[in-house]
Amino acid sequence: MTPLIEQKLLQLQQTAPEPFCAYLYDLNALAAHARQMREALPANCELFYAAKANPMAPILATLAPIVDGFEAASGGELTWLAERHPRQRLLFGGPGKLESELEAALRLGVECIHVESLTELERLASLCARLGCTASIMLRMNIPLDGLPSTRLAMGGKPTPFGLDPLDLPEALARVAEQPRLALLGFHFHLMSHQLDRQAHIELMRHYFRTVKGWQRQYGLKVKVLNVGGGIGVDYQHPDRLFDWPEFCRDLEALIAAEQMTGTRLRFECGRFISAGCGYYVMEVLDIKRNLGEWFAIARGGTHHFRTPAAQSHDHPFYVLRGRQPSRLQDASVTLVGQLCTPKDVLARNQPIRELAIGDWLVFRHAGAYAWNISHQHFLMHPAPEQIFLGDQPQG
Ligand SMILES: Cc1ncc(COP(=O)(O)O)c(C=O)c1O
Repeated sequence: MTPLIEQKLLQLQQTAPEPFCAYLYDLNALAAHARQMREALPANCELFYAAKANPMAPILATLAPIVDGFEAASGGELTWLAERHPRQRLLFGGPGKLESELEAALRLGVECIHVESLTELERLASLCARLGCTASIMLRMNIPLDGLPSTRLAMGGKPTPFGLDPLDLPEALARVAEQPRLALLGFHFHLMSHQLDRQAHIELMRHYFRTVKGWQRQYGLKVKVLNVGGGIGVDYQHPDRLFDWPEFCRDLEALIAAEQMTGTRLRFECGRFISAGCGYYVMEVLDIKRNLGEWFAIARGGTHHFRTPAAQSHDHPFYVLRGRQPSRLQDASVTLVGQLCTPKDVLARNQPIRELAIGDWLVFRHAGAYAWNISHQHFLMHPAPEQIFLGDQPQG
């Protein structure tokens, strides 16, 4: 826990008028982490933030001066980002884009649209003709991994709804060539999320580079920009073991030189790895009970606020912040649950704890990405948790 978060929680413990439940974010930690990521990248690389990870306004305002731009994956995200950060560079990706969303992207002047299929290519070309405008595009590709390892969340490298099949590439390129209103900047890949293995990610980058160089030769293309996606993971089971981004960047620089990629702009669009670490979800223990031989701690809130553990089917890492009550349990194994009347409302199963009492606070870490915004917030009509942003809050 960062000192800023710990200090605030200790203060809140003295003053909370009723059982507590909230998200807390350390914006200074977020800024420092993102700045470190941006600065470590080789010269021909850019870092965009995939807003789907956490699009809350203070998160975006903190990141805006640090990252090269934002990636939107829906018309809703696009409008939200453009309203708050009209001067920020925007990318627009995602499957099943509506014509109205494509039109909004064109009117907003997004820097690049990631095209997911031949149908979408046609849709965009007709739209540009109707509006009398042009569009810069990338073709999102799904390619086989050729023996490289995948992760537990694969968007490609196997049949998925995402991107174009390489078999459709000749036709896509022919259609782009016939469409003077479409400018092909390059290719987009996002084959996997939850990457924890630095070397495997370097090998994935090598695979992208070689694939694109092959296409350049085969089709006589000039690829100006290559979007290599996001996908850097957070190790929820070993929460202090961070993906070694600086070391990854050093290896990447060597790879770029070895593969003669210095003339191509490489664009990362990371989500989870940027914002997960700055967020904490805090629940106060309401009840502790034994049920058919196992101990349960029932805390205020649940997976309708914080779906991450249920979505990932994992035990989410947490700290116990002791309250004033004498401990009810000592050296026991406890399952941490929320207030929902479903057995799926579990945040961590059979966790060893030294001490626990009613009134203690459970502080779940790495809750700044794919957390509040992916949760089924209206189920059972419990109130929303407070959202507390700490640190310097840039305007915007
Ligand atoms: C196209 C695309 N880009 C970027 C991301 C961000 O991925 P991550 O949060 O794993 O970095 C995703 C996540 O689903 C995605 O689908």
